[in-house]
Amino acid sequence: MSRENFGSRFGAIMALAGSAVGLGNIWKFPYEAGSNGGGAFMLVYLFFVFVIGIPVMLSEFVIGRRGQRNPFGSFKTLAPGTRWFWFGGLSIFAAAIILSYYGTVAGWTLEYVAYAIGDTFHGRSSEDIGQLFSDFVSNSYKPLLWQVGFMVLCGIIIMSGVKNGIERCVKTMMPALFVLILLLDIRACTLDGAAEGLKFLFVPDFSKLTFNSVLNALGQSFFSLSLGMGALMTYASYISRNENLTGISVRVVVADTFVSILAGMAILPAVFAFGVDPSAGPNLVYITLPQVFDAMPLGYVWGIVFFVLLTFAALTSAISLLEVCVAYLTEELKFKRLSATALSTGVIAALGVLCTLSFGPMRDFTIFGRTFFDAFDALSSNIVLPVGGIFICLFVGWKMKTMSVYSELSSGGRYPMGMFRIFMFIVKYIAPAAILLILLGAIGIVK
Ligand code: TRP
Repeated sequence: MSRENFGSRFGAIMALAGSAVGLGNIWKFPYEAGSNGGGAFMLVYLFFVFVIGIPVMLSEFVIGRRGQRNPFGSFKTLAPGTRWFWFGGLSIFAAAIILSYYGTVAGWTLEYVAYAIGDTFHGRSSEDIGQLFSDFVSNSYKPLLWQVGFMVLCGIIIMSGVKNGIERCVKTMMPALFVLILLLDIRACTLDGAAEGLKFLFVPDFSKLTFNSVLNALGQSFFSLSLGMGALMTYASYISRNENLTGISVRVVVADTFVSILAGMAILPAVFAFGVDPSAGPNLVYITLPQVFDAMPLGYVWGIVFFVLLTFAALTSAISLLEVCVAYLTEELKFKRLSATALSTGVIAALGVLCTLSFGPMRDFTIFGRTFFDAFDALSSNIVLPVGGIFICLFVGWKMKTMSVYSELSSGGRYPMGMFRIFMFIVKYIAPAAILLILLGAIGIVK
């Protein structure tokens, strides 16, 4: 069976960066930094991204490109007769639960694009804007329409294939996203009082750093880089054999980190300039920011720019999750792309309904004391991704032949691999041990 590939290196990088850059960077990172001590959190985060993130990403690339399949099939090809292919099950499961709650937040974002266009924030008090948000998310049908609409949009892109769907979409949206965020940064950093926000983000105060914030930084790095469940593995299977995987991974990691920092630099200075609390948490973007926009000159335009940017970021990430399911169905179960997409989109949208209604009619329906939304979020970031990350490292570090890993990373000797020993050392020992720590921390065994 001939498989589709990305048409160009630029397309591959934009697709991978599109997966990585998402709500995690623009919605989560600023509030994580805001509630975990600013600069100190950022330093720890950067350490994890570069020391653990790059090797784990490279490991996913190695498995995906060498296996030439979805995660399920790649493990089957690379370790025939073993149970490693179970990882594929984890992959599908993770894609489904991440995408179901991701779709909820992405749906809110679409509603907020409409609010911004309709000038809805204008002249409202901060209580009013808070009320607007809680009324909307607890409404019994509006957020559902947006969430399902968002999923259908993802389905349409994925249905069109790797080149015509994914690549075409990311090649326009990602550059637009970079331009929009730079515009926002220029605006935010030239506000009176912006310096406070920048200081908060860049000057580390280590007294604020707790063990828990270290764990949050590791979890955030996995989530933000799309690591641990085979999404990048699937995309890597579409990268041409001639490309240099190391070069691509460094570019993707740098782009992702850069956008997180740019998002922090756009949001925190504005938050400080208008005297609102940086540790507002998940609502920062939907409650705090609209107040900030309303108080800014030309705030109407900036509000639209911001929520459109957030939509692009969410969309290019969500399709990478959907592609995992579609690649599995088409390659392993021989579905047609159209029916594979319809089935995955339908199932995930249905699961997503549970998450969306968690803020309204189903708010009292809990599993282990959490609503569906919170349970899916916690289960994926704190458990599934770290477990997946450990398996990926162990597979590349211990199960694959070192020669095969070397040959894949150097594209058959085409590119020099100066840091190969360091890479293997991290993948064999450092990364699994560090990830195990976050896992035990998340379950509460390590405090
Ligand atoms: N990285 C994306 C973000 O920052 C979310 C995402 C896409 C993701 N694919 C993933 C997270 C795979 C974990 C695993 O918003």
